Amino acid sequence: MNTSALPRHVAIIMDGNGRWAKKNALRVALGHRKGVEALRAIIRESSDIGIEALSLYAFSTENWRRSPEEVEALMGLLLEYFTNEIDELDENRVCIRILGDKDGMPEKQREALIKAEERTKNNTGLKLNIAINYGSRAELARAARILAEKAVRGEIRPGDITEQALADELYTKGLPDVDLLIRTSGEMRLSNFLLYQCAYAEFVFPTVLWPDFDLAAYHEALDAFGSRDRRFGGRKT
Ligand code: FPP
Repeated sequence: MNTSALPRHVAIIMDGNGRWAKKNALRVALGHRKGVEALRAIIRESSDIGIEALSLYAFSTENWRRSPEEVEALMGLLLEYFTNEIDELDENRVCIRILGDKDGMPEKQREALIKAEERTKNNTGLKLNIAINYGSRAELARAARILAEKAVRGEIRPGDITEQALADELYTKGLPDVDLLIRTSGEMRLSNFLLYQCAYAEFVFPTVLWPDFDLAAYHEALDAFGSRDRRFGGRKT
């Protein structure tokens, strides 16, 4: 792996848990459970190789439309994850941030998310952002609302609403833009994930299903990023 051209911020859409479960004749909940195992290894590796920020799409605002059994399984896994993994994450100096509307989460999960953020907020290692009950359009509308309220109160003028001012009201405030977006399972969509933050991201779409996304696949995606020619709208002479 070429470590000289690593992305600062990697975002991952962990897609394919359902198909993996079907392929292996298992219940969908077990596909998600296997997905958590894959995620554990990717978090550890990101931390080890010095990725600054890793953003994971765990549960979108649209995922509530899934069957009650699947939603319940995902909520259970989230609670389990934030209860069982927090010690190790904290020891590894991982700083957890939740992207999304925590108030719309069931009470137990909401408390666990807040506790994880609170406990790890001063950690200086990997910035681990987990998108839960997240939708990018809702995030942008929320930012616009906050800015409008500030304007109504007379704290800012419309002319103060710059790109930076908007970025500062997003859940990702203070993080670098996404450099590399990975979506597994061969789907090639953003699905309402970090639309603003991905303006200049490089996209990689491995065909492997998320539970099978191992370190070799991760390194391949990082290598693909390293070989891209990023111009940010400019021209190289
Ligand atoms: C997409 O696969 C995956 C999800 C909707 C959930 C991702 C969640 C996890 C990996 C586990 C929970 C996360 C944490 C942080 C503990 P899909 O079900 O849409 O797959 P399919 O398209 O093959 O059906």
